[in-house]
Amino acid sequence: MISSDRPLITAGAKPVHAPDAAPEVAAQSVQSMFDAIANRYDLLNHLLSLGTDLYWWWRAARKLRPILRRPDARVLDLCCGTGDMTLALMRHRPSTVGTAPLLAVDFSHQMLSRGRDKFNRCNIIPIEADALHLPLPNGYLDVISAAFGFRNLASYEAGLAELFRVLKPGGQIAILECNQPGGLVGLLYNLYFKRILPRIGGLLSSREAYTYLPTSVERFPRPPRMLELIREAGFETGSWTSYTFGVAGLYRATKPLSS
Ligand SMILES: C[S@@+](CC[C@H](N)C(=O)[O-])C[C@H]1O[C@@H](n2cnc3c(N)ncnc32)[C@H](O)[C@@H]1O
Repeated sequence: MISSDRPLITAGAKPVHAPDAAPEVAAQSVQSMFDAIANRYDLLNHLLSLGTDLYWWWRAARKLRPILRRPDARVLDLCCGTGDMTLALMRHRPSTVGTAPLLAVDFSHQMLSRGRDKFNRCNIIPIEADALHLPLPNGYLDVISAAFGFRNLASYEAGLAELFRVLKPGGQIAILECNQPGGLVGLLYNLYFKRILPRIGGLLSSREAYTYLPTSVERFPRPPRMLELIREAGFETGSWTSYTFGVAGLYRATKPLSS
């Protein structure tokens, strides 16, 4: 059950200039923002993360290898954007005929179009849909990944509930997300994320989007709270693995076999 005294921080993403926006307005704003930055997204992603994004996708996908290697496994890459995490997962899929296609969902038409171009002849089905209302039946999937997208959902509780619904009992989630580190790394991170990154982003793409980025990370629950939310949604064996001094990390959890 979701308690009524839940801190506001867990409510979901909000636009920078409208921190009190209703969830539908927030979702619309996120969608338009990603549509607007899609053409420069990959360039900025690699540049501003200094290439570590590639390593993070690779590392997260490798963790899912035992499931990905099963031809019958039904896999969804949620908030797939321009598809780099999807392709990292795809590398572990068998190439045998009859292997279940990898599903890739995003609600930004422009981001997904760029992904679609990259997917080319891969066994991937891109689906334009909202993560909070997936066009999939209950208990359909074996694994769901979400790289740097979950943080943008208008409600984290609703997002986790939807992931829980579409997973089979025993199915897994793997949420790769940015994190706000503490200590000296945190100080350097804040300097870079709040001062330098919005300027570079503003010059090459959109200042608003690259101001939203650190704000959304700041608003996102820290690992202990996020793990609590994951458990409250019904998942078990939740864990968080820190990547690169805690600047990012991978949440993993399983839907109980008994559910
Ligand atoms: C920061 S990008 C990450 C893209 C990709 N996974 C990556 O690692 O580069 C976040 C993506 O989440 C998508 N997104 C945000 N909220 C969504 C929602 N409610 N439903 C579907 N996609 C959503 C955005 O459109 C965007 O493409």
